Amino acid sequence: MEPRDLSAHIAYQAGRGIEEVARELDMDPDDLVKLASNENPFGPSPAAVEAIRNAAGNASSYPKASHTDLTARLAERWNVTPEQMWLANGGDGALDYLSRAMLDPGDAVLVPTPGFAYYGMSARYHHGEVNEYHLSPDDGFALTAETVLSDYDGERIVYLTSPHNPSGGRFSLDAVAEIAEETGDDTLVLVDEAYGEYADAPSAISLLSERDDSDASPDVSGNRTERDDIAVLRTFSKAYGLAGVRLGYAVVPEEWADAYARVNTPFAASELACRGGLAALTDDEHVEKSVETARWAREYIYDNLDAPTWEAHGNLVLADVGDGEASAVADAVQERGVILRDCTSFGLPNCVRITCGTKEETRRAVRELNEVLSS
Ligand SMILES: Cc1ncc(COP(=O)(O)O)c(C=O)c1O
Repeated sequence: MEPRDLSAHIAYQAGRGIEEVARELDMDPDDLVKLASNENPFGPSPAAVEAIRNAAGNASSYPKASHTDLTARLAERWNVTPEQMWLANGGDGALDYLSRAMLDPGDAVLVPTPGFAYYGMSARYHHGEVNEYHLSPDDGFALTAETVLSDYDGERIVYLTSPHNPSGGRFSLDAVAEIAEETGDDTLVLVDEAYGEYADAPSAISLLSERDDSDASPDVSGNRTERDDIAVLRTFSKAYGLAGVRLGYAVVPEEWADAYARVNTPFAASELACRGGLAALTDDEHVEKSVETARWAREYIYDNLDAPTWEAHGNLVLADVGDGEASAVADAVQERGVILRDCTSFGLPNCVRITCGTKEETRRAVRELNEVLSS
């Protein structure tokens, strides 16, 4: 007995956890700072914690009302119909639903490299092929329509990450619209806005939802027609601080939104996740604090780190620590108690990625990194 041929599949490499590193280095976990997985340093909103605690007693029942309520709440928020809101077990789960809905065996997808590994993994699970478009440090990992379209060859799904992980850059809405316009009728442009709350920019959801003029943003030029070939991914894992409960969603065009019923895992998001998500949506202050602090941290890192960085729009900053040095630098900083992301697995052996922490955590990360770089 063997599983199917999985030789083309790669295992997801997550950022290292505090417990794991503490054990390895024989350190007290409380002395470690983890800035490796783009989590929210403030944790979840207290309102979400309370809602999850209250929901614990209902954990024996399948989630029904909470799933419906959260779907309705998000649909209202984004000015789309509830059918367009595909709740999932994290953004990753939403990526899987879109793969299930779109890919026939042998269909290809186009993913950014460097980029978020799960796009290709999900496509392969669904018997898809993976092609890449290349982002280069030489032009600041520029996210333009031309970069994507020059490598486009009729793929079924084109993934755009905005803000991008790990570079931090973003696509303009004009670029997204141009890519959708220039790609074939059967190509879905999937805009991953996992870090969307941190970007001072409108969501691509505006390209597929009804908008009144007051929603139009400065970089949305002219009147766009609604598109049926763009979907947008969002998550509660980052600005809402709920990575541990696994809650995300895709917003899809109305025309084919009913596919959800045929591809979703029954009870796609858990009772605890839905209750936590509903409560988190009531706490704007928590999101604002998270976003503001990330903005401060990005500036602090640009200004104080003794290494070149790229302008970022998420809760992360990519830094160039020297040719082939990323692993050694990340290890040395880790021994000093700060866990950063070695970007060698992204194909960037000269880069580390620093998640924006609290002010204290960010200052410590920069201090330790500078010490290591100077030694
Ligand atoms: C670009 C990007 N997309 C999607 C995700 C998935 O997030 P989650 O499954 O936690 O919602 C991540 C997680 O780090 C990410 O970096």
